Amino acid sequence: MALSAASTVGEWLDHPVGGPVFRSILERAGTSADSLTPARSVPLQQLVALSQGKFPAELVDALVAAYQAAAPADDETAETATAPVRWAEDVTPGRFAGQTVIVTGAASGIGRAVASRVAREGGRVVAVDLTADKLADLAASLPGADVVTVAGDITSEDSVAEIVRAAGGQIHALANVAGIADDNSAVHEVSDALWERVMRVNVEGAMRLTRAVVPGMLEAREGRIVNVASEAGLRGSAAGAAYTASKHAVVGLTRSSAVMYAGTGVRVNAVAPGGVLTGIHIPGNAEFGGPRLAAYRGNIPGLATAEELAASITFLLSKDSVNITGTIVASDAGWSAV
Ligand SMILES: NC(=O)c1ccc[n+]([C@@H]2O[C@H](COP(=O)([O-])OP(=O)(O)OC[C@H]3O[C@@H](n4cnc5c(N)ncnc54)[C@H](O)[C@@H]3O)[C@@H](O)[C@H]2O)c1
Repeated sequence: MALSAASTVGEWLDHPVGGPVFRSILERAGTSADSLTPARSVPLQQLVALSQGKFPAELVDALVAAYQAAAPADDETAETATAPVRWAEDVTPGRFAGQTVIVTGAASGIGRAVASRVAREGGRVVAVDLTADKLADLAASLPGADVVTVAGDITSEDSVAEIVRAAGGQIHALANVAGIADDNSAVHEVSDALWERVMRVNVEGAMRLTRAVVPGMLEAREGRIVNVASEAGLRGSAAGAAYTASKHAVVGLTRSSAVMYAGTGVRVNAVAPGGVLTGIHIPGNAEFGGPRLAAYRGNIPGLATAEELAASITFLLSKDSVNITGTIVASDAGWSAV
């Protein structure tokens, strides 16, 4: 297999011909191969879309051209002995047929990947996010799919009511994906505004929508809720005080709800992503907390794609997660095992 723009960063770095070419182009662009270590599993072309200009398409074109000039025509060397078989999304037709699934944060990153996967597997998706234009983009990318979009803020009761209205009947599943990051601030440097916003979106938003859909699920004696927590819900070294506290609260909300609704047909689980390549906005890097947390970054095994997270989340949203409730599934390439 020859290298191409679809090959992963790791495949490029480990390749005997492509590796040196890649390293020299990175050096000329003023960056190092080490900075890409967390992105080893990411295809180069995806890095372009996610890097917001730091890794432009022209760089990939130049890289592929330089590799092709240097590689023998019958290059078979890319199949390294250590490279795992690359995962590709495998849609299960009809897995969500006849089901209505609410997905928050559906305009970007993990939420968008979840909404897309559910829609392509036959579900009716109520896609929720702050702004209408990016939701329209999601709907346009899924021709023929059943996607209802709701532009709203999950922290507002008016928006929550609108979301439930838009579902227009039985809600089979809810994915609470929308969330915001913090600036890695330690508790002594966190601002009231950041603390309140992170708690409101990450905890209160998930609680409000859950509170709104559970009565219908109890009546139907069926419903699955999946909350998106984080590695920061499992440990203290993955983010600042506000985000860490908020994601531990998401874990608590998940476990409490699983106990409260056990035996009713309503199941509540969470997925704790490790590092994921999305466009999530990081609002700065706090002076004290930022460098403290940097010391722990070496434990991160790599970055996942949003589609990889959607694979974990849609399993829990689907009926096949029968018998599972109250679990926190770490979808993190083993980070939490370290
Ligand atoms: N990216 C990561 O590395 C990572 C790691 C662990 C956990 N997570 C969690 O995964 C979830 C999705 O993150 P992502 O990386 O896809 O981020 P993202 O920024 O790409 O997507 C989040 C979406 O949520 C929306 N949103 C934010 N506040 C909202 C509100 N009040 N109402 C409605 N929509 C709102 C945003 O507009 C955005 O489209 C978040 O809960 C995040 O905390 C992400």
